[in-house]
Amino acid sequence: MDRERDIYALLTSFFDGMDVKEAIRRRRATRAFEAKDVEGGSIDELIESMRLSPSCNNNQPWRVIVTRGPALEKVKTHLSKGNSWARRASLILVVCARLDDDCKLADRRDYYLFSTGIAVGEMLLRATEMGVIAHPIAGYNAVAIKHELEIPDDHVLITLVICGHPGTDVSLLSEKQLLAERERPPRRPVGENFYRDRWGEPWR
Ligand SMILES: Cc1cc2nc3c(=O)[nH]c(=O)nc-3n(C[C@H](O)[C@H](O)[C@H](O)COP(=O)(O)O)c2cc1C
Repeated sequence: MDRERDIYALLTSFFDGMDVKEAIRRRRATRAFEAKDVEGGSIDELIESMRLSPSCNNNQPWRVIVTRGPALEKVKTHLSKGNSWARRASLILVVCARLDDDCKLADRRDYYLFSTGIAVGEMLLRATEMGVIAHPIAGYNAVAIKHELEIPDDHVLITLVICGHPGTDVSLLSEKQLLAERERPPRRPVGENFYRDRWGEPWR
């Protein structure tokens, strides 16, 4: 009985002081940066948050190139027009994964993108907690960046995570982006995505 109580106390102590709800609420994909570097210690924290993330069979399929300096500048030349705002970032994480590095199960359950997505999601929350913007994007020339950074062909460049400190320079933002800076873009009503007991029956 004592032993059970000890184990319970140990397990619950892991969650002391945690406020994931707050990190989820605060996380935003904002686009205005201050010209200030993300320091090495913070980058280590971002890396650690991905390392500890769950993955199928603990395969850890993600491969991440941390770019600063000249490599960062190269990546920036291949952003889509709508992502010009990302040119102000002081750090870009280039996130890749390969089909064969994670579980491949029946019915098209290839888990490499899923496991990598969870790891990125956790990293976004850790960044939020540290006051760092971490904004994943899909708008870039993947072929060109893969070539520049020598990423092997069999790897998918899933996302660039644009990182930096929040700032006030909104000169590179479109009207829509400016609006999103102020207000979180709306979410679908719960019943459109969440069902009760069978497909299509709205949860509420
Ligand atoms: C896979 C993915 C791709 C995205 N691509 C872009 C992009 O190319 N450019 C951009 O400005 N934002 C991009 N975003 C950010 C979304 O637009 C943003 O998360 C969404 O509008 C919701 O806003 P919020 O994250 O602030 O709640 C992307 C987000 C994800 C998860």
